[in-house]
Amino acid sequence: MHTPSLMSGSSQVEIKLGDRSYPILIGEALLGDPSTYAGLPRAAQALIVSNTTVEPLYGASLQSAIKPHFSAVHRLSLPDGEEHKNWEQLNRVFDALLENACDRKTVLFALGGGVVGDMTGFAAACYMRGVPFVQVPTTLLAQVDSSVGGKTAINHPLGKNMIGAFYQPLRVVCDLGSLKTLPPRELSAGLAEVIKYGPIYDMGFLDWIESHIEDLLARDPQALAHAVQRSCQIKAEVVGQDERDTGLRAILNFGHTFGHAIEAGLGYGQWLHGEAVGCGMVMAATLSERLGWVDADFVARLRRLVDRAGLPSVGPRLSSVGNAARYLELMRVDKKSEAGEIKFVLIKRPGQAEVHGAPDALVSEVIDACCKA
Ligand code: NAD
Ligand code: GLY
Repeated sequence: MHTPSLMSGSSQVEIKLGDRSYPILIGEALLGDPSTYAGLPRAAQALIVSNTTVEPLYGASLQSAIKPHFSAVHRLSLPDGEEHKNWEQLNRVFDALLENACDRKTVLFALGGGVVGDMTGFAAACYMRGVPFVQVPTTLLAQVDSSVGGKTAINHPLGKNMIGAFYQPLRVVCDLGSLKTLPPRELSAGLAEVIKYGPIYDMGFLDWIESHIEDLLARDPQALAHAVQRSCQIKAEVVGQDERDTGLRAILNFGHTFGHAIEAGLGYGQWLHGEAVGCGMVMAATLSERLGWVDADFVARLRRLVDRAGLPSVGPRLSSVGNAARYLELMRVDKKSEAGEIKFVLIKRPGQAEVHGAPDALVSEVIDACCKA
């Protein structure tokens, strides 16, 4: 497929998946530039799916940029929040497509964070058994992780992201300018997913994050550009080797097993996903240390960086989740679990991760050591 020529200051990362390959475009002011969308398939209609927070900020700009490519561009604004990543809101996407008599060439545009991206991608995977879609992520977390790699899903009352599909977008458009309106707490949450790429894959990147963390928090455009580009490169390398998450891709879940237990135990929405991942990485590194794989300096280094990124590095009061046994129970509800055995992404040595089980007693010790009493 023809891809747009890059504006100066912009960069591009390729996801290499044979005939499902696609570019991730990274730069300032991409979202409202018609040339960003050059080469997308011609179709009668397009639907922009967003939410009530992001749509008023960027909906009109995206609509006018893609207008030259389509006869009609519709917009749908869903309620904001993880609690709306469900069947009811997914159905509203199908309602909008059917009410507008959208055919199977219709292109969907996901404009927003990971919630909108995951839901729109799943809608695209299902509508008429699959229509093309474009990711336009507007949170740091979505730009460095969720918009890339084709995992799409909605939540079920009994489990997060349990209903979904692997379905790759045609293109990912990371407009760094859109991060200017992101609330500071959401920026920090995105930094957790940037930091994770260091311990699991590239310690040189971890060094770079440590020396640029203040620039990232200050939203320095060059620092953000490098963080998004290197994160996407690493994710592209991992997904290129294991698109369907049967092996290597699991390393991208570093910190997520402990993190999911914190999110679920406190009740979704108390801690942001990235906050729980920040603390979860410290807990997973501590477990790696107890197994004798990394030393205490490595754990302390990661804890310091998580703190500096504005993320919690100590788990919530144990009584607010229940107790260590309740943590273990929550961690068993995880896609990585096998026959009830909890699997963790652990650090084998700095820059290299491995999926591994650990004795419940050791995990309980780590929970006790890493959470407020
Ligand atoms: P989110 O989509 O809820 O966005 C966070 C908040 O920021 C929302 O209130 C949103 O409206 C607001 N927002 C978004 N862009 C903004 C902007 N530019 N300016 C102002 N406000 C803005 O959360 P998220 O952190 O982006 O994504 C979390 C979701 O991503 C979870 O559902 C998680 O399961 C999913 N996820 C998926 C993958 C994957 O591989 N598919 C990976 C990681 C996370
Ligand atoms: N965010 C984890 C993955 O894409 O596999």
